[in-house]
Amino acid sequence: MRQKLFRTKPIDELLKFAETPNGLKRTLTAPNLVALGVGAIIGAGIFVLTGTVAAQNAGPAIILSFVLAGIACAFAGLCYAEFASMIPVAGSAYTYSYATMGEFFAWIIGWDLILEYLFGASTVAVGWSGYVVSFLKQFGVVIPDYLSNAPINGDGELTGAFINLPAVLIIVLITLLLILGIRESARFNNIVVIIKVSVILMFIGLGFAFLNWDNLVPFIPENTGKFGEFGWSGIFRGAGVIFFAYIGFDAVSTTAQESKNPQRDMPIGILGSLVLTTILYILVALALTGMVHYSLLNVADPIAVGIDAIQGQSPTLINAVKVLIKVGAIAGLSSVILVMLMAQPRIFYSMGVDGLLPKSFTRLHRVYKTPYITTLLTGGVAAIVAGLLPIDTLGEMVSIGTLLAFALVCASVGILRYTRPDIHRPFKAPFSPLVPILGTLSSLLVMASLPGETWLRLLIWMAIGMVIYFFYGYRHSKIE
Ligand code: ALA
Repeated sequence: MRQKLFRTKPIDELLKFAETPNGLKRTLTAPNLVALGVGAIIGAGIFVLTGTVAAQNAGPAIILSFVLAGIACAFAGLCYAEFASMIPVAGSAYTYSYATMGEFFAWIIGWDLILEYLFGASTVAVGWSGYVVSFLKQFGVVIPDYLSNAPINGDGELTGAFINLPAVLIIVLITLLLILGIRESARFNNIVVIIKVSVILMFIGLGFAFLNWDNLVPFIPENTGKFGEFGWSGIFRGAGVIFFAYIGFDAVSTTAQESKNPQRDMPIGILGSLVLTTILYILVALALTGMVHYSLLNVADPIAVGIDAIQGQSPTLINAVKVLIKVGAIAGLSSVILVMLMAQPRIFYSMGVDGLLPKSFTRLHRVYKTPYITTLLTGGVAAIVAGLLPIDTLGEMVSIGTLLAFALVCASVGILRYTRPDIHRPFKAPFSPLVPILGTLSSLLVMASLPGETWLRLLIWMAIGMVIYFFYGYRHSKIE
């Protein structure tokens, strides 16, 4: 039994597979990869959760939450870069762990990645809904509260709302596009990234021009007596929630087979996009909490609310800026949803090929040649989740799941240095084993700051996964 649980996929076979022509063209360059990372990273985290975290957990000290979460991501990014340059095949953390820690851990990561991608898509869709509702309202079209909010709150109580309809609709729309075979091309991605980053730079510029230093004092508001509500515990809790904003740099590693020079460019893509977004995030956080008092930021569109605070300017100008920002946010959030809804079926597909999930998961559409069964399944579940749950509950779930995956990836990079020192590593995480160890520990530390209910949900999710593995995957695995 033990042998079966820890059976591994031979790395050399994976490498050989990566070298055989498989239809994927090697077209992506280092700047493409950085743009791809930025495209997947900047989304609901910065456009929505920054406000929630500032208002509920950290106040202006959300800047420190961003720094903490960024440090954990930097360690994980270095480990991902080592893996992606060493095993440049599609499939990401699931494949890496199959090759190193064995099937049981691969299943755990694969199951856990559903939290990152599928639930991630739902989370961003809820953020998208907030900006769309606010955008339409500016033009006099009012979507009633009961059709644009979650019917269930974070404590499991009914809110009186019926469904978050816009969030459901965007997921359905993107799912249909993916089934028809629309893939986000690198060029389209570059355009969306330029829009997103321009909007953010504009916001930062305005923020610094209209900064009210009084809003930044006290920088660390006093703790309310409850863990996670301001003070240092609030900064840590904030890091756990805002970690969501960094998710996506690992998506770069899934394109290893489409990259021209993966050994050199994977680390540039992963670390470059991470550094760029960290700088932008810290500046946005400073600008936002400087423009508006943090207590007013628990809204669906905090960046737009920031603009409201600009005094002494013509209303026409302010309205125009708000329209620009909302359009940028809506476009930017759409591309993140697209990336996530595209990644999830590919992971299901790999798990289906390995026999851990049913064979039908590998079936391609007769006409469109897309994995339509897994795409429909992903889109269907993501739409239901987005329609029913609020963004903070979802974001915490996605953060804790992704942090667990990061901890496991960092640990396996460290383990592999000892068990397979012979494999060529074009990029090595520096100061090994320090970086893999710090990566594992910092991910666990940020996880520890998340609420007990979030941990409970993670445990229930993983327990369901175990049952499925032992009843299905364990018996059907293709690895001898
Ligand atoms: N980092 C991505 C976002 O913030 C998931 O939307």
